[in-house]
Amino acid sequence: MEPYMKVANIKSHPEGNAYGRPTQTYDSELVFVGPGTPGGEYLRRYWHPVAVSKNVTTRPQEVRILGEDLILFRDGRGRPGLLLPRCAHRGTSLFYGKVDDEGIRCCYHGWQFDVQGRCIDQPCEPERGLHRDKVRQPWYPVEERYGLVFAYMGPPDKTPDLPRWDIFEDLPAEVKLFATDSSFSVGGDDSVKILPWNWLQDWENTLDPFHVQVLHSTFTATQFAKEMAVMPKVSYEMTEHGIRYTAYRQLPDGRELDRRSPAIFPNIISTPDVHLQAGLSTTMGWVVPVDDTHHRRFHVMRVPADSDPSVTRPRQMYTEQNRPKRWIDMTEEERQQWPSDWEAQCGQGPITLHSEEHLGTTDQGIAMLRRLMRKQIRLVQEGKDPIGVSFGDESPRVVGSGNFFRAAESEVEK
Ligand code: FES
Ligand SMILES: [Fe+2]
Repeated sequence: MEPYMKVANIKSHPEGNAYGRPTQTYDSELVFVGPGTPGGEYLRRYWHPVAVSKNVTTRPQEVRILGEDLILFRDGRGRPGLLLPRCAHRGTSLFYGKVDDEGIRCCYHGWQFDVQGRCIDQPCEPERGLHRDKVRQPWYPVEERYGLVFAYMGPPDKTPDLPRWDIFEDLPAEVKLFATDSSFSVGGDDSVKILPWNWLQDWENTLDPFHVQVLHSTFTATQFAKEMAVMPKVSYEMTEHGIRYTAYRQLPDGRELDRRSPAIFPNIISTPDVHLQAGLSTTMGWVVPVDDTHHRRFHVMRVPADSDPSVTRPRQMYTEQNRPKRWIDMTEEERQQWPSDWEAQCGQGPITLHSEEHLGTTDQGIAMLRRLMRKQIRLVQEGKDPIGVSFGDESPRVVGSGNFFRAAESEVEK
């Protein structure tokens, strides 16, 4: 894909007049996700969620991920399968196939494939396919965990562990996990699953604690806890799995707050509760590239075992009386008046133009993230393993994000 705008390299104007400005471009190494691209090959070294488990049934569904179109289904024995849509016989889409206990059967001539693409029946051929074992429908491995279906689309000999996370293991009886593919966390809602901008714009937002003070706290309404309006002092550190920031705030009531939030490579977030519930975060989110100009979000969260989170899940768009309103129901004018993450990130364009940016001191997290990502891309190109990839280590990883309060000094003295 080419940058959107190319203009002749006429000498640019010294006072910043827009005429004659140089070609605007983006960093293709970081933003492209397709097979064979540097970023795409790096991302293919990890498992990615492709669907919420409960939504995967015997009805085939189209899934687009990392620039590839695939068909996802669950066979009659409960096994999920992820195959290329184009039937290995003469190319009809398996989207129109029928699924039974053994696998998916193409609608055109009835060839049937199991969840690993083996051709197990060719009803029109002599003896139902004397050579059917020579045919394999291209497929990817999938695994289910925490209510999500994960796919691994990288080199088979490099298949890593599907990570476990400490906050989702050994749950007490009163807690259950809830998985969703709603776009609520960027200000969208259940009805909008595909976000029309490059995934990196969303993931970078993870290491941007300053937009919380502006966009979510002071620009229009108080979208999160009112204490977020305090400008934080932020520090960043490298971790075993990526980068973490700590946003420190001295609150008006005398308490002090450390808000810790990680960017877990390659695309995982764990945002501390935005209403400042104290303690460890109980959610994780995945920012999953659909293609170069679209992505989607998956989330897993701990919820009370007796709750129905599909009803109680918060929405984060606010209008006049600070009433929630679904993104889909807002007018364009309302989105202008009460923008949230959706508008801020989508407003950067389908792929933001890195050549036009002016990073400031508060963009340190963004710069660190890009630098670490570029390093991983190079490692993969050199045949090495990128950060966070493990083989044969199933032990749960520590997430470590959350809101950590320090008592007011006077209280400490008492
Ligand atoms: S095209 Fe699929 S069975 Fe013929
Ligand atoms: Fe945000």
